Amino acid sequence: ARGKKWLSANSLFFFFSSLFSYRSADWAAKRLVWVPSEKHGFESASIREERGDEVEVELTDTQRRLTLSREEVQRMNPPRFSKVEDMADLTCLNEASVLHNLRERYYSGLIYTYSGLFCVVVNPYKNLPIYTESIVEMYRGKKRHDMPPHIYAISEAAYRSMLQDREDQSILCTGESGAGKTENTKKVIQYLAHVASSHKVSILKHDTCGELERQLLQANPILEAFGNAKTVKNDNSSRFGKFIRINFDVAGYIVGANIETYLLEKSRATRQAKDERTFHIFYQLLCGATEQTRADLLLGSADEYRFLSGGSIPVPGQSDSENFTQTMDSMAIMGFNPEESLSMLKVISAVLQFGNITFTKEKNQDQASMPDDTAAQKLSHLLGINVLEFTRAILTPRIKVGREYVQKAQTKEQADFAVEALAKATYERLFRWLVHRINRALDRRQRQGASFIGILDIAGFEIFQLNSFEQLCINYTNEKLQQLFNHTMFILEQEEYQREGIEWNFIDFGLDLQPCIDLIERPAHPPGVLALLDEECWFPRATDRSFVEKLSNEQGSHPKFFKSKQPRGEADFSIIHYAGKVDYKADDWLVKNMDPLNDNVASLLHQSSDSFVSELWKEGMNDQFSLLLTYLNT
Ligand SMILES: Nc1ncnc2c1ncn2[C@@H]1O[C@H](COP(=O)(O)OP(=O)(O)OP(=O)(O)O)[C@@H](O)[C@H]1O
Ligand SMILES: *[C@@H]1O[C@H](CO)[C@@H](O)[C@H](O)[C@H]1NC(C)=O
Ligand SMILES: *[C@@H]1O[C@H](CO)[C@@H](O)[C@H](O)[C@H]1NC(C)=O
Ligand SMILES: *[C@@H]1O[C@H](CO)[C@@H](O)[C@H](O)[C@H]1NC(C)=O
Ligand SMILES: *[C@@H]1O[C@H](CO)[C@@H](O)[C@H](O)[C@H]1NC(C)=O
Ligand SMILES: *[C@@H]1O[C@H](CO)[C@@H](O)[C@H](O)[C@H]1NC(C)=O
Ligand SMILES: [Mg+2]
Repeated sequence: ARGKKWLSANSLFFFFSSLFSYRSADWAAKRLVWVPSEKHGFESASIREERGDEVEVELTDTQRRLTLSREEVQRMNPPRFSKVEDMADLTCLNEASVLHNLRERYYSGLIYTYSGLFCVVVNPYKNLPIYTESIVEMYRGKKRHDMPPHIYAISEAAYRSMLQDREDQSILCTGESGAGKTENTKKVIQYLAHVASSHKVSILKHDTCGELERQLLQANPILEAFGNAKTVKNDNSSRFGKFIRINFDVAGYIVGANIETYLLEKSRATRQAKDERTFHIFYQLLCGATEQTRADLLLGSADEYRFLSGGSIPVPGQSDSENFTQTMDSMAIMGFNPEESLSMLKVISAVLQFGNITFTKEKNQDQASMPDDTAAQKLSHLLGINVLEFTRAILTPRIKVGREYVQKAQTKEQADFAVEALAKATYERLFRWLVHRINRALDRRQRQGASFIGILDIAGFEIFQLNSFEQLCINYTNEKLQQLFNHTMFILEQEEYQREGIEWNFIDFGLDLQPCIDLIERPAHPPGVLALLDEECWFPRATDRSFVEKLSNEQGSHPKFFKSKQPRGEADFSIIHYAGKVDYKADDWLVKNMDPLNDNVASLLHQSSDSFVSELWKEGMNDQFSLLLTYLNT
């Protein structure tokens, strides 16, 4: 559905272009059209008769006759437009023709097609011989329209523009999960590492190539091991967004790089849906570690951990143990020393052990207890903390009440919640540390960067029936990106018309999305969704319900907001995004917004005897933590 939305956005651009292209009179005489088809999307037909708003057509394949309304038939392009490289050149611009063109090209192995200023890619799901070193050479220094469409041409254009205009460039990859965003991101890096290397040696053959370029190419495999997972949509799905910035000097040589990541789906570390897996690194470690490492890290097998709900789910064509070796090799190339790698793996093992801790409810009491402390022992050993202190921090944390601290027993639910939150926070901190460490390796301060090319690969999200806080954040991001994109594209397109002297009323279509963005981000008068959520988090007695109430009171009349009638278990409210109406359920939003952590355990971890663990937890405790504890305990 998302893909379709993009196409309809595209077809608007096509529409503008078509105003200025000629119409082919003799083609119209043949009267071939596209009509909707259950099976093929659209199929070919010819017009037999036109009666007012109705049209009688004959299907080309079966000679069957149909009567349709005029809007349902879409004009077909003359055959000489077959497989055009730029769809803006099509005479008839409609959804059917665009899809037909993409399909025809796809069946000929042509997965890249331009659409005016941007490039549409169809995932081939097989390796095409189009990414070799000689193809890189073919695109080097060429103008975009002198060569067949390719991600290399896009990369080349960005590189040339950067050098000529001395302006930073960005490439945005977007599409639904599995569309090929990450694969194409890697091709951009591959291309740039090749054409902009200060070392005149082949970097694709693994001989003595530039160290920086080699490390740059290893960054993705490492990030993928820790941040990608198998989902039902994609065996290699990125569960985080990233912006890779490659820095160049005035001569156009790569001088460094920097990666920023967004919204890691940390909840995957503790729970996975049916047929999905947690992050690759967990299975790689469990399958690939040597006997010695297994013993040192107290590892079990995949089906011995509660946090791996599906046990060991193999991915076809992928060997977790071989990939473990690859990940470790990449980390070595990146300059990680063996102690750093081992420390990371230890933390992975600890995250798994968090899930094995079991609390029970004391008889006749609300209080939780932990009759078997095996898992807590292992965990404390791995993290370099004292097991008794850990147990106490979870079961009876010290809590500030007014001006004094008191010991407060936790219920089983509170203890379970605390442990899961800790496991997620631990994994997230590990991931953040990893990104930071990679950046340290890729940052070469010796040479000053003059400009950069950025590549944004945001997570493509699945569609759920009921959506939560995570989806709101994703949607908000997408909405803003769409707005920026639409705005930029319309401005660029219309500037072109001006240059060509076409008479044109300047319109900024890109601001259509502003009402929805306001609804989410407006700080006050009236406050938007996020501001209200923050505000509600400060009220000790607030609940997810009271948040929904306030939201409805403040925004009830907003055109993009709908309050649900609330039959149990269904949506609390809906927001009309550009992509359509999305139903949200507000359960746990307060807690998710505060990202609660037990600060007793956090400070314990910061005092760990293991310097790596201590570093992970070094940032000071957030005021919000104590606020949350007050909230949880009132
Ligand atoms: N150009 C390509 N050539 C060959 N295979 C490809 C290509 N692009 C994508 N694929 C295949 O499709 C799979 C999914 O692509 P990719 O991981 O890039 O999707 P994505 O858009 O990043 O998805 P997500 O949003 O889930 O991260 C890849 O693992 C690969 O097998
Ligand atoms: C995972 O990604 C790698 C490279 O990043 C790719 O070669 C491989 O085919 C992908 N695996 C699967 C199972 O899709
Ligand atoms: C995790 O706990 C389960 C049962 O509580 C146990 O069978 C399993 O061995 C534990 N796993 C590890 C790796 O210790
Ligand atoms: C895992 O290894 C296989 C080959 O053993 C490789 O094809 C695949 O790309 C690797 N997957 C990842 C995610 O690195
Ligand atoms: C918002 O998220 C939902 C669920 O993930 C999805 O269906 C919808 O397309 C998203 N909307 C936007 C604007 O990204
Ligand atoms: C861009 O603007 C056009 C014109 O208002 C609108 O129809 C279209 O939906 C917008 N595209 C996206 C992807 O939001
Ligand atoms: Mg991806």
